[in-house]
Amino acid sequence: KMMRLKLDYINGIPFLQFICKNWEKIWNFQARSDDLLICTYPKAGTTWIQEIVDLIQNDGDIKRCQRAPCHDRVPFIELMTPLSFKSGVEQASEMPSPRVLKSHIPIQLLPPSFWEHNCKVIYVARNAKDNLVSYFHFGRMNQGMPDPGTWPEFFETFLAGEVSWGPWHDHVKGWWEAREHHRILYLFYEDMKENPAREIRKVMQFLEKDLDEKILEKIAHHSSFQTMKENPMANFSTMPSFIFDQSISPFMRKGTVGDWKTHFTVAQNERFNEDYKKKMAGTSLTFRTEL
Ligand code: PPS
Repeated sequence: KMMRLKLDYINGIPFLQFICKNWEKIWNFQARSDDLLICTYPKAGTTWIQEIVDLIQNDGDIKRCQRAPCHDRVPFIELMTPLSFKSGVEQASEMPSPRVLKSHIPIQLLPPSFWEHNCKVIYVARNAKDNLVSYFHFGRMNQGMPDPGTWPEFFETFLAGEVSWGPWHDHVKGWWEAREHHRILYLFYEDMKENPAREIRKVMQFLEKDLDEKILEKIAHHSSFQTMKENPMANFSTMPSFIFDQSISPFMRKGTVGDWKTHFTVAQNERFNEDYKKKMAGTSLTFRTEL
């Protein structure tokens, strides 16, 4: 069993120690004008949107999109490749353009090079309650993350924002406000669940790709939860099990909206709502938690 890691801080935001140690390199990341950045709070639908983008860019060519595991196709800029332990910065620098890059960095800590090059960004946000539940199960299975503890313990840790990549609330709000000044497509997990084709069309438009309806349907099918769960190039089965122990909880766990209802107690829900109201006051950003 691996020793569970602790968190360190960059400008008050908790991060995995690997990220803090490499912060200088990460902050000085060299973006290119034709980079596409996929940014999310952890467990908001990163892998899903990644697959959609890859399918669009490859005109729905399924084989092409199975050329490598998702974590090799899309460098995770502040972390590392699982097997070679190469940093995401290095992995990205060796990649030919145009690149698709993944990050969970809150907006105030995004390497400035992305703004200097006016890069396109796709941000996916997921409602806080489901995001929290998904993060809890991920922490249980991912031995490279801090131990989440019990459900009631992690519930409190999440509300305190003492989790890797910091508080959910500031993350989603920060990127929401930035979309007025930058080329950001801001999507919602719940919308993607409700009408995948509609949201895929938005991504196509953002990427200036014109694909016919047949291909769009194919893309919707191959990026569905069930298909991705069975796709070894998308389901992280290529990760060594001493890091991702998928016998504890699979990476493609449930892929639904509203799973929080099977986790939250009535008291937790009340406490969550009260805290949420305070932290989300004054923003125009709303989530479809009624689904
Ligand atoms: S990570 O580790 O931050 O990159 O994780 P991320 O990919 O953002 O989030 C994983 C959750 O997204 C769900 N998922 C999907 N839902 C619906 N459709 C598709 N195609 C899909 N692919 C991944 C995955 O199951 C995780 O959510 P939970 O609620 O835990 O099932």
